[in-house]
Amino acid sequence: MYIHILGSAAGGGFPQWNCNCANCDGFRKGTLNAHARTQSSIAISEDGERWILCNASPDIRAQLASCEAMQPARALRDTGINAVLLFDSQVDHTTGLLTLREGLPLDVWCTAQVKDDLSSGFPLFPMLKHWNGGLNWREVPASEFSSFTIPCAPSLKLTAIPLLSNAPPYSPRRDNPHPGDNIGIFIQDTRTGQNVLYAPGLGQTDARILSWMRKADVLMVDGTVWHDDEMIRQEVGTKTGQDMGHLAQSGPGGMIEVLDTMPAKRKILIHINNTNPILNEDSPERAQLAEHGIEVAWDGMQIELVEQP
Ligand code: MLT
Ligand code: MN
Ligand code: ZN
Repeated sequence: MYIHILGSAAGGGFPQWNCNCANCDGFRKGTLNAHARTQSSIAISEDGERWILCNASPDIRAQLASCEAMQPARALRDTGINAVLLFDSQVDHTTGLLTLREGLPLDVWCTAQVKDDLSSGFPLFPMLKHWNGGLNWREVPASEFSSFTIPCAPSLKLTAIPLLSNAPPYSPRRDNPHPGDNIGIFIQDTRTGQNVLYAPGLGQTDARILSWMRKADVLMVDGTVWHDDEMIRQEVGTKTGQDMGHLAQSGPGGMIEVLDTMPAKRKILIHINNTNPILNEDSPERAQLAEHGIEVAWDGMQIELVEQP
């Protein structure tokens, strides 16, 4: 299985266009040792040719341009994207579908709730019908008891893990999320026996989620905020990580503590908000992650999972 990290930042990206927090300002002034990051998306593939786009970021145009595998040029009009898999109906994970309009129709895999939000509060499904038939909805079962496969990657067994997170502000289930509003995907490569869990929006853990995390060789999990209240502390917002459905890294019960209990070979934080001090590569928070063997995803990062000897 091949994984390309197209965008490793949370909504807004880094630096965020209108933000002058310590990170965004420091980056622009060149005083911060950090890399720019685009908004949340990865691509996975069984054969390195046909890709499943996991979330369609508002930054997709630049992301595709910077990733050769996504632009194979085998025909006059061509793309490496064979299907799209959505993890929620948030702006940062779905707006890129508008940019893909020239290449429709496309199969879009998501839960019934996500389809519902994208047919009402953010009506991408009805709107994009006007482009060559638009988005073909393929239902993702929001149950950890039923797995599914996407035709372009038959040996990747996918399981949607309903996560405790939040629905977007335009969803009727905002602050009252239901299973299926937000999922993580457990990917079992049946050829190599390697397992990956990708969960960019993980607000809380429970025994069920922890047991899936424990089975993963590679964990790519919610790295949005370091402190639950960091947006408030930095006076750039009024929401906590918990309000948005993101578990902070620091503190008791935080992501670092959770990851410490996991046997995974690689533990990677992804979906990083621009206020997060870990973006500063010289920060004590970044050093703390290194001590715990936790990596920070970056745009352009690639992971290849091969058969175990
Ligand atoms: C989130 O996951 O909470 C977001 O990044 C929200 C957004 O895109 O505005
Ligand atoms: Mn997000
Ligand atoms: Zn900022």
